[in-house]
Amino acid sequence: MTANDSPSGRPPGPQTTTYDSTFLKACRREPVPHTPVWFMRQAGRSLPEYLKVREGIPMLESCMRPELVSEITMQPVRRHKVDAAIYFSDIVVPLKAIGVDLDIKPGVGPVVAEPIRSRADLARLRELTPEDVWYVTEAIGLLTGELGETPLIGFAGAPFTLASYLVEGGPSRNHEHTKALMYGDPQLWADLLDRLAAITSSFLKVQIEAGASAVQLFDSWVGALAPADYRRSVLPASAKVFQAVAEYGVPRIHFGVGTGELLGLLGEAGADVVGVDWRVPLDEAARRVGPGKALQGNLDPAVLFATPEAVETKTREVLAAAAGLEGHVFNLGHGVLPTTDADALTRLVEFVHTETAR
Ligand code: CP3
Repeated sequence: MTANDSPSGRPPGPQTTTYDSTFLKACRREPVPHTPVWFMRQAGRSLPEYLKVREGIPMLESCMRPELVSEITMQPVRRHKVDAAIYFSDIVVPLKAIGVDLDIKPGVGPVVAEPIRSRADLARLRELTPEDVWYVTEAIGLLTGELGETPLIGFAGAPFTLASYLVEGGPSRNHEHTKALMYGDPQLWADLLDRLAAITSSFLKVQIEAGASAVQLFDSWVGALAPADYRRSVLPASAKVFQAVAEYGVPRIHFGVGTGELLGLLGEAGADVVGVDWRVPLDEAARRVGPGKALQGNLDPAVLFATPEAVETKTREVLAAAAGLEGHVFNLGHGVLPTTDADALTRLVEFVHTETAR
């Protein structure tokens, strides 16, 4: 028997202690004692303890300080008792790490100094090495010790969403420059997405090798595309990322917003778990995604601004739609909104755990 061939099928390495966690079991579509919960963008934002440790430290700099990253990643786990931690970083960190001149502007998001729009610009995107992101390896080393049996989710931006920031130069409503490149120069577009797929794959591998027990690919803005364009111009690059990390055996989650028409194709790209926004009920989403995948989602994040009774009613609706799924990880349909009341999140975790206890 080799190290890769344990009787339980567990992957070797630091993930062993989290293998039997409720979150990973649900991702693997195994029976669970209760539905696991975590929240996209659970770290940071409105948590007072986050605002305190971040005081005076710019966002990207905070991502490069291992002890601070570890502390911020732990904060929502301690406060809300969520079933998984998400590594504190940002989707543009690997781009910054290979030398792209960009910054994260508070209230705006990532802003790129010189957008990438020509073949000459492509040369600015070199391959990512583990040394470029040494602080990620170090922070995850600290975290796996602190987290114990709570799994850590690593993450990266998907090629399309990263391309949108790089080509537009910042956040965009219509993605017009991105689409202009995609339709106008398909070969340059394919080369750009390929390069981003390689960077993203390397970044996820660093996180898994350091101890992340699952990974999520955020394709936040992919809902801007029609299915035929997604299949032709984006799916192959995202599929390469999932393929690149398949050998580790950790669950791979795929999430986008406004993806009702794309859910089947998101499943085809190769993830084990498909994240669903709040627009499609989970039973209908399961029909669109097809068998053999767990689903993650999908309470509208804005519901948390309603009364506690309304939150419970809307949560029961999500759980009822999820009742027949092969595997369900409870989450919001997109990230926690910045002014969300932290106590509403804590109550929501407890409510889902109690309602689904079996
Ligand atoms: O739980 C967590 O918060 C984990 C860390 C995390 C951040 N960004 C930290 C962050 C994660 C998982 C992300 C992912 C991310 N970043 C996505 C995908 C998820 C999604 O929301 O769709 C995207 C599209 C980005 C790009 C980005 N970075 C945006 C749109 C913003 C918001 C700008 C703003 O200020 O409203 C950021 C900045 C950012 N990333 C902050 C944090 C905590 C806020 C910066 C700050 O606190 O100063």
